[in-house]
Amino acid sequence: MKLLTEQLTKIVSDAFEQCGYDRTLGSVTVSDRQDLCQFQCNGAFGAAKQAHQPPFRIADEVAAVLRENPVFSKAEMVRPGFLNLSLSDEAILSCLRAVAADEFLGIPQAEHPETILIDYGGPNVAKPLHIGHLRSAIIGESLKRLARATGNRVLGDVHLGDWGLQIGLVIAELSVRHPDWECFSPDFPASGAVPQLDADTLCEIYPFASKKSKEDKEFSALAHRMTAELQNGRPGYLALWKEILRVSVADLKQNYAKLGVDFDLWYGESDADKYLGELMDRLQEKGLLRESDGALVVDVAEESDKAPMPPVIVRKSDNSSIYATTDLATIIQREKDFAPDKIWYVVDKRQGLHFTQIFRCAKKAGLVPESTELCHIGFGTMNGADGKPYKTRDGGVMRLSDLIGTATEAAHEKMKDSGFVSDSERQELAQKIGVAAVKFGDLINNPAKDYVFDLDKFLSFEGKTGTYLLYTISRINSICKRLGEDSAAEEFSGIYTDVERELALNILMTGETFRRAMQEKAPNYICENAYQLAAVFSRFYHDNRIIDEPDEAKKATWVSLIRLTRRLLLKHLEVLSIEPVEQM
Ligand code: ARG
Repeated sequence: MKLLTEQLTKIVSDAFEQCGYDRTLGSVTVSDRQDLCQFQCNGAFGAAKQAHQPPFRIADEVAAVLRENPVFSKAEMVRPGFLNLSLSDEAILSCLRAVAADEFLGIPQAEHPETILIDYGGPNVAKPLHIGHLRSAIIGESLKRLARATGNRVLGDVHLGDWGLQIGLVIAELSVRHPDWECFSPDFPASGAVPQLDADTLCEIYPFASKKSKEDKEFSALAHRMTAELQNGRPGYLALWKEILRVSVADLKQNYAKLGVDFDLWYGESDADKYLGELMDRLQEKGLLRESDGALVVDVAEESDKAPMPPVIVRKSDNSSIYATTDLATIIQREKDFAPDKIWYVVDKRQGLHFTQIFRCAKKAGLVPESTELCHIGFGTMNGADGKPYKTRDGGVMRLSDLIGTATEAAHEKMKDSGFVSDSERQELAQKIGVAAVKFGDLINNPAKDYVFDLDKFLSFEGKTGTYLLYTISRINSICKRLGEDSAAEEFSGIYTDVERELALNILMTGETFRRAMQEKAPNYICENAYQLAAVFSRFYHDNRIIDEPDEAKKATWVSLIRLTRRLLLKHLEVLSIEPVEQM
């Protein structure tokens, strides 16, 4: 289905042409003053320059042509030359029928589907998943679903941090605690087995080792040495690394599942290792490598830079590779495996410089075609009530699993008073509501913005919250049940009240919203639209007695509207990766 604004643009362009003006002037947008009109076109200003005529005269002429068209209930010129447009009820009804019959519910599908690889999550192995990774997972998952819902091929890659010092720290500490383990012996065979580890041990051991390395120089040196030896392929450390990876990944998968986040690819930084040689060769071939204090760097500064742009270090003086090297090698891997049109990195905005550097380097070295979009979708910080990065009560960084627990508990507490459901159902419901509240509370903000994590607000049954959305859908469910789920097919016979027209227009605008959210890579538009839909629906339902409406045609239209609203709200939730609840 074509977007409404696209359909209208065609009609208005024809009218401009008919009046003797350039048809490219007929571009129609959604009006930002819905109280005045639904759509607008500002083409008369452009035509005025070409035709040396005042814009109001041109707008008047075009409006006269448009008024002939039954699609419009209003087509008028407003000085100094705006064209204000509103749809006739007949047109609205026919659009509603089209949306209801469209398998994509009016969400525009890409004409040329693109392959988009989204790098999100980015947890570090051996370190527990904490809320710093929460935003990446939530925003990335939603962008992945949004890109899919608009007809693209999308791959989500978790891009595990599995190759760095954190692993060396854990191995070093294990070697101190268990010097007798065979994997620490230099002649440990490549096929050798290591003792099983568990998630609790890993959670305890990493912070311990990390703290120790700051106080104990010798231990720190050991961890660095072991990291280098691991990266050089020492069998005992590799075997231990595999075991750490196994335990960590199982734990991560469990946590992500609770959040409704899942990845198509479970690659990690370590997978880029085999492309390091090729990376260095290609940088060398292009003559991009320069030696600086024993390290190898690539200059990426450009004349137009306003701030200093340091070179990318691709190999340190001790021969080890770093974050930037891995990210560059990963680009080679992704290009080889998937040749994506776009690679999006959903990562904390404080890593902005890093991404500017590696994107420039990748383009200079021709690791991807010039047309490939490399984009860092940088997100802001989740703050506490004090405006500082969110911490636990004792000042620590809260772990993701604890956060889900806290949200679930708070939702549980809230539902106690509501008396909606029986005790036994509450726990499961509370987790769904808690997670929905946290996710919506995050996604309603533009990704780049910092926001305050306020569970109380997120769990409110009023306002722009996940809770309100779930509640609205559960209400629709019970309405549909009372109306009988199996009554006749969709039917839109007329528009009987103003609020209904408003609801219908909201439904019809959904396609525009999805287009915009995709263009701006911003799921907050989806949240906003879902809220508007739910809020108008609530008013519509409050104002009309549907159950005992005697006029059959009217009643059938209302039932169809309710059902369509539900389908659309569920579509929004699906893209936000929020699981609906049947009843609450
Ligand atoms: N593991 C990294 C971190 O915790 C995030 C990785 C983001 N992705 C990337 N390709 N650099 O900061």
